[in-house]
Amino acid sequence: MPTIITNVEDLRVLAQKRVPRMFYDYADSGSWTESTYRANSADFQKIKLRQRVAVNMENRSTATTMVGQKVAMPVALAPTGLTGMQHADGEILAARAARKFGVPFTLSTMSICSIEDVAQHAGEGFWFQLYVMKDRGFIERLIDRAKAANCGALVLTLDLQILGQRHKDLKNGLSAPPKLTIKNMINIATKARWALGMAGTRRRQFGNIVGHVQGVSDMANLAAWTAEQFDPALNWGDVEWIKKRWGGKLILKGIQDVEDARLAVQSGADALIVSNHGGRQLDGAQSSIEALPTIVDAVGKDIEVHMDGGIRSGQDVFKARALGARGTYIGRAFLYGLGAMGEAGVTKCLEIIHKELDLTMAFCGHTQIDTVGLDVLLPGTYPTPLRAG
Ligand code: GLV
Repeated sequence: MPTIITNVEDLRVLAQKRVPRMFYDYADSGSWTESTYRANSADFQKIKLRQRVAVNMENRSTATTMVGQKVAMPVALAPTGLTGMQHADGEILAARAARKFGVPFTLSTMSICSIEDVAQHAGEGFWFQLYVMKDRGFIERLIDRAKAANCGALVLTLDLQILGQRHKDLKNGLSAPPKLTIKNMINIATKARWALGMAGTRRRQFGNIVGHVQGVSDMANLAAWTAEQFDPALNWGDVEWIKKRWGGKLILKGIQDVEDARLAVQSGADALIVSNHGGRQLDGAQSSIEALPTIVDAVGKDIEVHMDGGIRSGQDVFKARALGARGTYIGRAFLYGLGAMGEAGVTKCLEIIHKELDLTMAFCGHTQIDTVGLDVLLPGTYPTPLRAG
C-alpha cells in the first residue's frame, strides 16, 4: 500500500527507511547529549495560539519578503551539508522544488553538487552559504563563483569555526562517499532506491571543493584538508572583508547572543539568523525560538532578524513570525522529504508547511502573514525578551 504522507513526520519515517544510516543519522542528530537539538522543537510546542472566530478568512496570503526578495511564504531552505548524500543529486532536486514553490534555496559550501551545477536549476532565490577557511584564495574564488552564478544572497556561517562533537557521526565513521566497509555495505544493500540513484550520478564528492583547491582530488585528502582548513581565527574583521568582496545581500548565520547581534548590526549585514546550527554545535545553548525575542527586542529595528532550528511545521513558522522573525529556514524538514522521495518529497514538505501555515493564520484571525504579530500568541506561554538588569 502506498504511504500517505500528511505531515513532516511521515517524511522523516520514510527517509529513515530509505537513506543509509550514516547519512540519515548525520542529518537527524545533534551534538553531545542532543539537549539543544531536542529543545529547538520542544520549545515551539510550549507556545499556545489564540483562536479567533467569525473573522473573514477569504483572500489569504502567506507571501512576504526576505532581504527584500519576494517569497511565497517566510521560509527558505537552509544550507545543509552533504545534501547530495540524502538522495542522488539532492541539491539540484531541492533547488528545483524551491524554485517552483517560490522560496529561496541556500546551497552549503559543503554540498555535493557544485554551485555551477545547481545554478542551472535554481531560480531567483538561489543563495549561497559560506564557511570561512584559512585558504583565503579559495574563499575569494568561492565568492566570485557565487557571484557568477547570480546568487541573490550570501549566508555567512559564524558558528562553525570548530566542529561540535557529534557522537553518531563519530560512531558511524561518516564520510562522503561512504567507505565500503562490511557494515556499510550491509546497510546500503537494504537501500536499493538510494543506491540506484547514486549509481546513476557522477556527483558523489564535495562539488564546491574537489578540483577547486590544489592538492584536493580525493576524499581522503579532503577530510584532512577540511579538519585543517576551517578557520578558528575567524573574526568580525573577516566579516567586513567578505562583505566588501561580495557586495550583495549578506546574511549572518549563527547568532545566539545579544552582544553578537549588535556586532552583526554594526557590520552592516542585511539580516542575521538566530541559530544554534540545529543543535549541532554548542549543546546546552538555548533553543532558537527562546533566544529569538531578546534579539528581536535589541536589534529588530536595525536589521532583519531570521531564525532556524526546530521547525517541523507551518505552525512553527507562524510562531516564529509572531515572535518577530521576518523569515525562517527549514533544514531537516526538507532533508526528510528529499531522502524519502527526492524532488517530489521536498515539494511535499513545502506544501505541508504552507498548508499548516495558511490554516493556522486563518484560525488565528489573520488573512495576511505580514499582519501577524504577538497578538496571535497566548500571553504567558511564549518566551519574552531578557533585559540586562
Ligand atoms: C554542517 O553544516 C554541519 O552541521 O554538519
